[in-house]
Amino acid sequence: MMKNTDELLQRIETELEKLPLEQIEPQGLYAPVRYILEDGGKRIRPLLCLLSADLCGGKVSEALPAAIAVEVFHNFTLLHDDIMDRAPMRRGRPTVHLKWSENSAILSGDAMLIFAYQILSSGNYAELLPELLAVFNRAAMEVCQGQQYDMEFERTDREVSEAEYLEMIRLKTSVLLAAALEMGAIVGGASPAERRALYDFGVNLGLAFQIQDDLLDTYGDAETFGKAIGGDIAVGKKTFLHIAAMAAASAEQRAAIWAPGDMDEKLLRVRGIYDALGVRSAAEAAIERYFTRALASLRRAHEDADRLAVLEKYAYSLLKRTK
Ligand code: IPE
Ligand code: IPE
Ligand code: MG
Ligand code: MG
Ligand code: MG
Repeated sequence: MMKNTDELLQRIETELEKLPLEQIEPQGLYAPVRYILEDGGKRIRPLLCLLSADLCGGKVSEALPAAIAVEVFHNFTLLHDDIMDRAPMRRGRPTVHLKWSENSAILSGDAMLIFAYQILSSGNYAELLPELLAVFNRAAMEVCQGQQYDMEFERTDREVSEAEYLEMIRLKTSVLLAAALEMGAIVGGASPAERRALYDFGVNLGLAFQIQDDLLDTYGDAETFGKAIGGDIAVGKKTFLHIAAMAAASAEQRAAIWAPGDMDEKLLRVRGIYDALGVRSAAEAAIERYFTRALASLRRAHEDADRLAVLEKYAYSLLKRTK
C-alpha cells in the first residue's frame, strides 16, 4: 500500500517531537536545537527517504531513523549556513545566531551532527548500517565541499561559470536529497539500478530546487518564504540569477550589479537589471530542464508507473513551491 504524504509528514513531526531535548542539560546547548527542529520546515528530505523506502517495498517504520537523521543533519547545516550567509531570518523567525549567538549556533549545530549519527545508528539496520553510513557520510562531506565553493565564489574577483555553479549546488544541496532517497531505497531492499535511479532523481530534483531557492531569494515574498528577500544579492552570492545576468549584462549593468548600497536599495536596483535581462525566465527554464530530468530518472526507478505516482505528485508540488 502506497502511503500518502500527509500521513508520512505527520509521522516525521511525531518522531522529531520524541527527541528528549527538554530533559537534558545545559539548555543553552539544546534550546537552539529544539528551536530549529520545531515545526516550520518542509521536511522534504525525510519525506523523500520514507517515500523511497515505501516505493522499494520497505517498511516506513524501518526507514524512519534514517529519515530523521537526514532531517536533523539538514537542520544542523542551516545553523551554520545562516552564520556563513549572515542571514537574519529562517522560517519566519530570527536565525539562531541572532536569537542566541554565533557561538551557540556553531556548538548547537555540532551537537545536532552528533544527534544525526546517534539517530541513524539507533535504527534496526544490522548489516545495512555500514552501507547507510557510507551513503550518508559521502553526502555529508560533499555538502561541506559545496558550502566551501559557495563561500569561495562570493569573492567579487571570482568569476563563476554556469558549470561551476551547477557543480556547487549539486554538492551543497542536491546530494542530500539524493542520499535521503538512496537511504530509503537501501532500507527498502532496492536493486543497485533502482538505487541509482532514485539517487539521480534526487540530484536533478535538487538542482531544480536550488535554482528555485535562488529565484525565491530575489523574487519571493518574505512572509511566505520565511527568509529575508535579497539576502543573496546583499552578500554577493553567485546565484543562478547572478551568473545569467553577468553573461548578458553591459559594462554599465555589470558595474551597477557590483555597486554598494543598503539591502533594500540594492535589491531593487539589481532586480531591475535582472528583469531587464530576462534572467527570471532563464532561471525558470533551467528549473524546468532539471525537473524534467528528475522525472525521467524517477521513471527508471520502478516499472510500475502507478507506484511512482506519489513521488511524482510530490515532486510537482515542490515545483510550485513559494516557501
Ligand atoms: C533550505 O532547505 C536550504 C536549501 C538547500 C535551499 P529547505 O528549503 O528544504 O528548508 P526547510 O527545511 O524546508 O526550511
Ligand atoms: C543552502 O543554500 C545549502 C545548505 C544549507 C547546505 P542556501 O544558503 O541558499 O540556503 P538558504 O537559502 O539559506 O536556505
Ligand atoms: Mg543560506
Ligand atoms: Mg548558503
Ligand atoms: Mg538560498
